[in-house]
Amino acid sequence: MTDSKNTILVTGGAGFIGSNFVLRWIETVGTPVVNLDLLTYAGNPENLAALDDDKRYQLVRADICDAEAVAAALNEHRPRAIVHFAAESHVDRSIVDPGAFIHTNVQGTYTLLEQARRYWSALDDAAKESFRFLHVSTDEVYGTLSPEDPAFSETTPYAPNSPYAASKAASDHLARAYFHTFKLPVLTTNCSNNYGPFQFPEKLIPLMIMNALEGKALPVYGDGQNVRDWLFVDDHCSAIRTVLEKGKLGETYNVGGNSERNNLHVVNTICDLVDELRPDPVIGSRRKLIKYVADRPGHDRRYAIDARKIANELGWTPSVDFEHGLRNTVEWYLNHASWIENVRSGAYLTWIKQNYEERIAQ
Ligand code: NAD
Ligand code: DAU
Repeated sequence: MTDSKNTILVTGGAGFIGSNFVLRWIETVGTPVVNLDLLTYAGNPENLAALDDDKRYQLVRADICDAEAVAAALNEHRPRAIVHFAAESHVDRSIVDPGAFIHTNVQGTYTLLEQARRYWSALDDAAKESFRFLHVSTDEVYGTLSPEDPAFSETTPYAPNSPYAASKAASDHLARAYFHTFKLPVLTTNCSNNYGPFQFPEKLIPLMIMNALEGKALPVYGDGQNVRDWLFVDDHCSAIRTVLEKGKLGETYNVGGNSERNNLHVVNTICDLVDELRPDPVIGSRRKLIKYVADRPGHDRRYAIDARKIANELGWTPSVDFEHGLRNTVEWYLNHASWIENVRSGAYLTWIKQNYEERIAQ
């Protein structure tokens, strides 16, 4: 791949959001994408199978913690931008094994920033001016809200509560420091909970769809009243494209769906959709499968995003409302049985056993 003016490099492009981003980028922008991904348990090349014969897409299997491999990819492909998705992303796993999160999210982001700085410093003036490093982050860095608190804005102080959130907060601070100290042209997005196709079924929505389909227990943590602000993944991808194109260097942008829902509401809605789309007289009403289980330690009560900055300054707003997005998502999983079968590898089963079998039912 040699089109240095147009190539972008994404990290973690075989994961949930990254693969949706790559597919949408090729469809809408159409310029080449290099995907640097280690293909951990969460990285699935099958998500990008539609691009197997597309010369605009190339996978580089490498670790963002490997400075030499990152430098080689940058020097070979000469991207005009880096969009950094790669991370350990599941809160429950960060409680079981925090070290993996520090390694990938902190050390990995540092390594990527440092190699990006070296690459960018050696560019000619025009290429230097147009280069962008977009760091994809989360609303979890802001901590938790009570029901009456205002939503998180870009000036809300950081107060991460899980090892995952703390590792993402550290990576955000490094991205900020590389802008302020070295003038690396960094942009950061802090987004709320995504849902949609290709999400690994360790996360709430795909896990519940798959279990409901098969008549398995639906494990709701605590009292089920924790609130998340849900955003359809395509909308997150369009927000990232917007920030990449129009964002002001060094700024952070909150991205959200204006769709606060508590977990019990989300699970009940999934049950009703699966009942409607795949009725099963033996299973009956899927709502009966709901099982309250031991809470997540340190479980954040509520997230909500104030997305006025990206709306007012860059003109981005979400286009998919939660009810339509969730219906589309349930339909997607029901229609992709072979994708589900393939992700249910041995490693997935080990995680499900570890996370759920030892949770004490409430
Ligand atoms: P994911 O877990 O589905 O995918 C992560 C990807 O990163 C996988 O393809 C994996 O193989 C790759 N990866 C992991 N470690 C790597 C390493 N050391 N080197 C190279 N590649 C590596 O994650 P996701 O849900 O798609 O999230 C993507 C990004 O968006 C993350 O940075 C996450 O913090 C952020 N985010 C996620 C959400 C959400 O709701 N899922 C919301 C806001 C922000
Ligand atoms: O807010 C953005 C974040 O959203 C991202 O940064 C993370 O990468 C992403 O994983 C997500 O984090 P959450 O912890 O909010 O997502 P998760 O799908 O794991 O859980 C959503 C809610 O559902 C949360 O309150 C915990 C609850 N839950 C989750 C699972 C897996 C259950 O009640 N039962 C479950 O089995």
